[in-house]
Amino acid sequence: MSEHPYDSLREEDLRLRRSVKWQQFPADVLPVWVAEMDYPLADPVREVLLEMVERGDTGYVHPGGVAEAYAAFAAQRYGQQVGPEGARVIPDVMRGVHHVLAVHTEPGAAVVIDTPAYPPFFSTITAAERRVVDVPLVRDADGRFAHDLDALERAFAAGAAAYLFCSPHNPTGRVWSSAELETLADLADRYAVTVLADEVHSPLTYAGHAHIPFASLDSDAARRSVSFVSASKAWNLPGLKCALAVPGGAPAAQLLEALPEELAFGAGILGAAANVAAFRDGGPWLRDTLDYLDGNRRALAEQLPALLPQVRWSPPEATYLAWLDLRPLGWGDDPASVLLERGRVALYAGPEFGVPGRGFARLNLATSRALLGEALERMAGAADGQMPRPGGG
Ligand SMILES: Cc1ncc(COP(=O)(O)O)c(C=O)c1O
Repeated sequence: MSEHPYDSLREEDLRLRRSVKWQQFPADVLPVWVAEMDYPLADPVREVLLEMVERGDTGYVHPGGVAEAYAAFAAQRYGQQVGPEGARVIPDVMRGVHHVLAVHTEPGAAVVIDTPAYPPFFSTITAAERRVVDVPLVRDADGRFAHDLDALERAFAAGAAAYLFCSPHNPTGRVWSSAELETLADLADRYAVTVLADEVHSPLTYAGHAHIPFASLDSDAARRSVSFVSASKAWNLPGLKCALAVPGGAPAAQLLEALPEELAFGAGILGAAANVAAFRDGGPWLRDTLDYLDGNRRALAEQLPALLPQVRWSPPEATYLAWLDLRPLGWGDDPASVLLERGRVALYAGPEFGVPGRGFARLNLATSRALLGEALERMAGAADGQMPRPGGG
């Protein structure tokens, strides 16, 4: 197999990064936890950022252009017609969710989430003084994560105000099918629940699966929904701070008009420019990166059974995240802490994703194949009770 430039990533260079992924743990720990990528930026993004820094173009953000660039991307990639007029620039997805909950629901209102869930879903709903109602996903006949529709209906019927829906789903990597989405939309319609669709991972959908934007469904729930999107995940820009809240139709556009005007100024000028460059010109980089990630996904599928035969998982259909069931190892609720201590490898602790995360850990695949292999060896070493090889990687 021919070499890819990502194969040459060097751990010592990555350790110079100032981001939380590389700074959180001591230098002998290999970090494969938080959702950042170890890859160089897409050329169009790097070029616009360099130009702006050279020019001293670091003033307040002008939000123009981001929604238009996203609308063109969504039309081309998903065949979705997004009306850019009603979209609002926000600093990041979770800040957007917080503000939409604040203007659209009452204090104490129930907000439904599927668990396991991206940990800030819990903290953001709680910080907004709303109530988390978590509905665990179940396994379908094929062993894939799926909604427990009876439990979800009970949660909606009990008076939920909103459903914070993650599509594609972090951490399980599920890409919801059109039948699944239509069922969810029907339920949301029946109980007048507002769907807040977090679609930040959608550009990272692998070949063989198709992301369907919730707002593209033909339903009132879709027209009332707000989607949250950004180039932040797929092009690794989360520190630059820029995302969009996109209304599914006229009722949602009205809702977004109630957001505080100054919210857009929480976005960064570099983030806005990087989002425009990524959505407009970042297609070739994304294709190549998804190919590489797919290779890592396959490498994990090949190596895991040999190195850690007890671990159960299903390859993600989107995202560069692998949700690992480590319960057969008998390491209790938080196996990531055992891996950290014994293997000096940092995965994201499963219990932070809610009760169904007990005994699980999340592995980030967005690194070189060699570093992924090193992470797996450290994990296997922890299971063997061995210490990691010094200076490995
Ligand atoms: C499901 C989900 N939503 C939101 C985010 C973060 O987005 P932001 O940094 O724009 O809040 C992440 C980051 O990993 C995520 O996985």
